[in-house]
Amino acid sequence: MITTLSINNYRSVLNLTMLLGPLTVVTGPNGSGKSNLYRALRLLAETAQGGVINSLASEGGLESTIWAGPEKISKRMRDGVVPIEGGTRQEVVRLRMGVVTDTLGYSISLGLPEPSRSAFCFDPEIKRETIWAGPFYRPASVLVDRKGPMVKVRDGRSWKVVEQHLSSFQSMFDQLSDPIAAPEVFQVREMIRGWRFYDYFRTDKDAPARQAQLGTRTPVLNHDGRDLAAALQTIREIGNHEALDNAISDAFPGARIDVVHHNDGRFSVEFYQEGLLRPLTSAELSDGTLRYLLLVAALLTPRPPLLMVLNEPETSLHPDLLPALARLIIKASDNTQVWIVSHASRLIAALSDHYECHGIQLEKVLGQTEIQGQGILDTPPWHYRE
Ligand SMILES: Nc1ncnc2c1ncn2[C@@H]1O[C@H](COP(=O)(O)OP(=O)(O)OP(=O)(O)O)[C@@H](O)[C@H]1O
Ligand SMILES: [Mg+2]
Repeated sequence: MITTLSINNYRSVLNLTMLLGPLTVVTGPNGSGKSNLYRALRLLAETAQGGVINSLASEGGLESTIWAGPEKISKRMRDGVVPIEGGTRQEVVRLRMGVVTDTLGYSISLGLPEPSRSAFCFDPEIKRETIWAGPFYRPASVLVDRKGPMVKVRDGRSWKVVEQHLSSFQSMFDQLSDPIAAPEVFQVREMIRGWRFYDYFRTDKDAPARQAQLGTRTPVLNHDGRDLAAALQTIREIGNHEALDNAISDAFPGARIDVVHHNDGRFSVEFYQEGLLRPLTSAELSDGTLRYLLLVAALLTPRPPLLMVLNEPETSLHPDLLPALARLIIKASDNTQVWIVSHASRLIAALSDHYECHGIQLEKVLGQTEIQGQGILDTPPWHYRE
């Protein structure tokens, strides 16, 4: 389980370290930084997929993603005695992210390259990656240390260099995959690769989820929902089919779904509703109903991930459906750690009733995302190496 997440210098998040629970619910007003936190988590996940530099580039590069405010906001600035000003930078610009599980921690620092004539001279670089044992980084607990092109692994009381030519755009996860030479690299990479994200599901008339699709066994719903019918059928065959039926009747009393396999190998969903003489196909379902089915398929996956992240799952759902969605999310959190970003007060209230729910209320103070009520004493300790 992930216990702590830390983000530094990413958009409105200048410095945030937070504890996570089995079920974490992030809320806050518009512009408070909920999506920024979600995007930072995605960016961190990209390091284990080999795509962190590309993702950063597609977000507008480091220049755009880095915190746009002053390096430090002094007490006098906070109190409005002096205006907010930048001043000369004391530290080099770094975007840093880190995560800690029950046993291991990992952090990555990204920065700008040394000036050069290369056409890629604005590409961000990975400056440092560190894996350590324990709840936060301490020099004595470092197990793997990547600095620029070089990776060292702790070897008893000394260090062993396991790589000297890592490119600045590659994470050590891309290059070191030998579970024997660097077991912790392998472990952390697999842990981060196991995160699953669901953002917005399209439900317009051309949406992938509305089309009949060739079906194969699908324990993991695609992020765009294209394999909804196959995913539902897979839950029915190898997953918790009772939970599936209950989730449908919980939200739509008297309704049930069926998955039809056509002769050409394609699968489609049929939705039986009280009062109708024939079932509705996914092309005919309302946006909210279709989205609910997508969330059911995502949350009842027969192969639960280590972490499931849902960004604003309430989109286009009627408030009456939210308690049923909350029950589904709470059930999923028995098997997987869940992170939810939400606006919807009914969903938040229903989730907060659960004893394992950890609520994070964000607010923006002088342009900076902060956790409401988090003082210095309840901020988990955190240090970055570089
Ligand atoms: N580089 C940056 N530096 C500082 N702040 C930034 C930067 N980039 C974006 N922001 C701020 O981040 C805020 C947007 O945050 P975000 O999209 O996470 O909000 P949100 O809580 O998801 O809001 P909503 O509920 O409207 O979706 C904007 O107000 C913008 O000012
Ligand atoms: Mg948002």
